[in-house]
Amino acid sequence: MAEELHISQKLSKAEKYQQLLPQLEALVKGENDTIANLANLMAALKQAFNFWWVGVYLVKNDELVLGPFQGPIACTRIKKGKGVCGTAWQEAKTIIVDDVEQFLGHIACSSESKSEIVVPVFNKNKEVIMVIDVDSEVLNAFDETDAAYLEKIAQLISDIA
Ligand code: SME
Repeated sequence: MAEELHISQKLSKAEKYQQLLPQLEALVKGENDTIANLANLMAALKQAFNFWWVGVYLVKNDELVLGPFQGPIACTRIKKGKGVCGTAWQEAKTIIVDDVEQFLGHIACSSESKSEIVVPVFNKNKEVIMVIDVDSEVLNAFDETDAAYLEKIAQLISDIA
């Protein structure tokens, strides 16, 4: 694995993701433990973007269960179809929420969270096996650039999970 992360803070968001992606690949190369890899990937995302909360929820039986994350403590279990995470799982698609107060059924793990993006991770049979959840303490923090690159990171996770 790579020893250090190099992210220039002067870059645009898209450029930062581009700089980050090959480093994420290097980070997980040679390690086959999924939890260890997820833990480092979430730490790398936190380090690169200083996201307020970034983590994964893993599909276990009929629920999402909290996995490796960076940020304040969070709810541990989410039912299918509930909240942004459970909806992204049910619909098997990325969801961007500009203002969590406008999302019916949003699960407020913290009142600090104002906007959110959730990206599903698929297995080879196109089933959702986990979701990546990123929260911000400001409104409108996420856009199609985040969606496109987080989906690439979801594909990387899918390849190693
Ligand atoms: N807000 C999420 C729950 C997870 S926390 O934000 C970390 C949701 O509505 O699914």
